[in-house]
Amino acid sequence: MPVIEVSHLTKKFGALTAVDDVSFTVDAGEILVIVGGSGSGKTTTLRCVAGLEEPSSGQVTIDGATVSSSGLFVPPERRGIGMVFQSYALWPHMTIYENVAYGLVLKRTPAAQINEAVMRVMDLVGLGGLEKRFPSTLSGGQQQRVALARSAVVEPKVLLLDEPLSNLDAKLREQMRTDLRVLVRKLNMTAIHITHDQNEAMAIADKVIYMHRGRIEQAGTPRELYRSPNSKRVAQFIGSATFIDGKVVRPPADGKVVVQTPDGTEIVSCTDQKLDVGGLVTIAVRPENVVLSQFPTPGENVFTGTIADETYLGDRIESLIDALGTKLRVWHADDIPVGSEVYCSVKPAKVLCFGPGT
Ligand SMILES: Nc1ncnc2c1ncn2[C@@H]1O[C@H](COP(=O)(O)OP(=O)(O)OP(=O)(O)O)[C@@H](O)[C@H]1O
Ligand SMILES: [Mg+2]
Repeated sequence: MPVIEVSHLTKKFGALTAVDDVSFTVDAGEILVIVGGSGSGKTTTLRCVAGLEEPSSGQVTIDGATVSSSGLFVPPERRGIGMVFQSYALWPHMTIYENVAYGLVLKRTPAAQINEAVMRVMDLVGLGGLEKRFPSTLSGGQQQRVALARSAVVEPKVLLLDEPLSNLDAKLREQMRTDLRVLVRKLNMTAIHITHDQNEAMAIADKVIYMHRGRIEQAGTPRELYRSPNSKRVAQFIGSATFIDGKVVRPPADGKVVVQTPDGTEIVSCTDQKLDVGGLVTIAVRPENVVLSQFPTPGENVFTGTIADETYLGDRIESLIDALGTKLRVWHADDIPVGSEVYCSVKPAKVLCFGPGT
């Protein structure tokens, strides 16, 4: 059952439509991640769910109760939500314990109960033992954990997170992703999380929404967005790929289309889009989907190239290959000297194809 239901949400600031007819649901226990370029409406959407912004139209329902619709507006403090932002303003004159306990003190919770709840949540976010310290004596990552603990301690139904991890370094961010998932699960919360980081999105999300100019361009599981992006923008944001402009050379048949790349090579892509012969399309190939060989291999989509450059990344080698009239980015495990001629192959199902307007 959905805990959060957003339906036809629109928010205008004067002439600007920041959020444009957005609808989605988040089921109990799920984490929905919102991604998209700067200014695409992510924060505004979250603020409308939180009640920090009054929508121009549309409806927001939390845990079965409508909190925002025409003529109805429930204030944030009565929505049963917790919020964490990028800037985690802790109270500097209060200890970590007092910071975390604050929400429960406001609710006049008995002291013994406060103690139990604070200790539990401190433990869950890995802060156990720091109770007596003051915020200024903590690292950025620890302070962000305090902010998370402070929001979670009242066990809100819904946790709203706006880039809470973006101030942290890469290693810490990775650790916090796992912690966040554990916290949401252990406290039976449902969350919406905004991020600019595609790895974070993939790691945290049960569902992802990609926003562009106030609208949802694609919604789905991380797998769906990665494997079947419905626009170049989504393909570019989630994962990496080489994009190659080409021309449709034969009428699409059997769910396949043949595209001629700038150097004249014909590449087959699995797609069910309706495409005109002679029409311009863009194909995209992800670096892990190209198989390199120093010998000819049978099958579709085999073409030759020359290794122009390589970057050693430890867990893999990333090579740029002069092929298909472009520099094709390819990941591989074996050492192949720069300058080598190679055979490249990519399965038609792994060639993404974007027709006009996508
Ligand atoms: N209070 C406001 N008054 C006027 N315009 C606003 C206001 N808040 C946001 N906007 C505009 O609405 C659009 C969406 O802003 P929003 O903050 O939702 O984007 P975002 O996707 O969160 O971007 P970022 O990734 O940079 O945080 C932007 O063009 C922004 O300038
Ligand atoms: Mg924002």
